[in-house]
Amino acid sequence: MTDKIAIIGFGNIANAIITPLLDKKLIQPENVYCVVNSKKSLEKIKKNYKHNINVYQSGSKESKIIWDCQFKLLSIKPQHLQDINEGDNLKDKNNLLVSILAGVSINRLTQKFPNHKCVRVVTNIPITVGKGLTGIAWGEKVSKDQEIFTKKLFENTSKIYEFSEDYLDIFLALTSSGPAIVALIIESLSDGGLSGGLPKILSEELVMEMIQGTISLIKENKLTTSELKNLVTSPGGTTISALRVLEKKSVRSALIESVVSASNRSKEFS
Ligand SMILES: NC(=O)c1ccc[n+]([C@@H]2O[C@H](COP(=O)([O-])OP(=O)(O)OC[C@H]3O[C@@H](n4cnc5c(N)ncnc54)[C@H](OP(=O)(O)O)[C@@H]3O)[C@@H](O)[C@H]2O)c1
Repeated sequence: MTDKIAIIGFGNIANAIITPLLDKKLIQPENVYCVVNSKKSLEKIKKNYKHNINVYQSGSKESKIIWDCQFKLLSIKPQHLQDINEGDNLKDKNNLLVSILAGVSINRLTQKFPNHKCVRVVTNIPITVGKGLTGIAWGEKVSKDQEIFTKKLFENTSKIYEFSEDYLDIFLALTSSGPAIVALIIESLSDGGLSGGLPKILSEELVMEMIQGTISLIKENKLTTSELKNLVTSPGGTTISALRVLEKKSVRSALIESVVSASNRSKEFS
């Protein structure tokens, strides 16, 4: 990728997307132009960031240069979208803007950035370890080259799924909110181990190994989740006793509703 790329908001997720591309020399630091809100973040990036990218504070005269870049990654928090205004007199009217903002629709993006072809992306935090999931919804008239560029941003660190925009809210609920839901499950199960007398660290380790092992078993033996459940549930045994408690406490329903709720919340941002 030899083109200039602007990063509007260089926080956790932008960092996770761009740093591996710089590490692998797929983009050159001199071609990256990023803008952040605070002086503190500006200084931190200048002082500590391992690649010598161009960085500016929003509102400064120099920061306007970002609007000359053909490709832009919008990675601020959704509530700060109102502070971003498309530059005046754009030389090119066929720029690409890739947004990772939770719940902000392509329609809203296109209204805010009329000189850009807009793409809405949902990605998740495991991209920081190269195991992300990225859902992409293409706006109107995005060119083949712009599609290729967008995929290149994410394909190193995540599996890519292309959807119509309608599916992005539920994709976000499952994949982007999902890590927090799983973390809560891990924490709760290991508290169970703690209650039974295991040290916290050991208990947490056992839970994570058990989850990884269970996933491997399902995948390698091509089991359905019901088949796996039946495999370890013997009549009158310990597992059915555990599952009975979960059903009594409506855990299954609570998990379903948690995903639906995250999806509805995402829709509220649109
Ligand atoms: N966190 C997740 O798990 C996750 C997952 C997928 C997608 N997302 C989405 O990714 C986006 C970014 O999330 P994040 O966790 O990376 O947020 P973050 O770490 O808070 O980063 C936000 C960045 O935006 C900058 N910013 C704020 N106002 C700005 C302005 N007016 N002009 C330019 N830059 C500005 C901030 O600068 P300062 O540091 O100077 O304030 C910061 O660099 C969100 O929209 C979120 O929905 C998040």
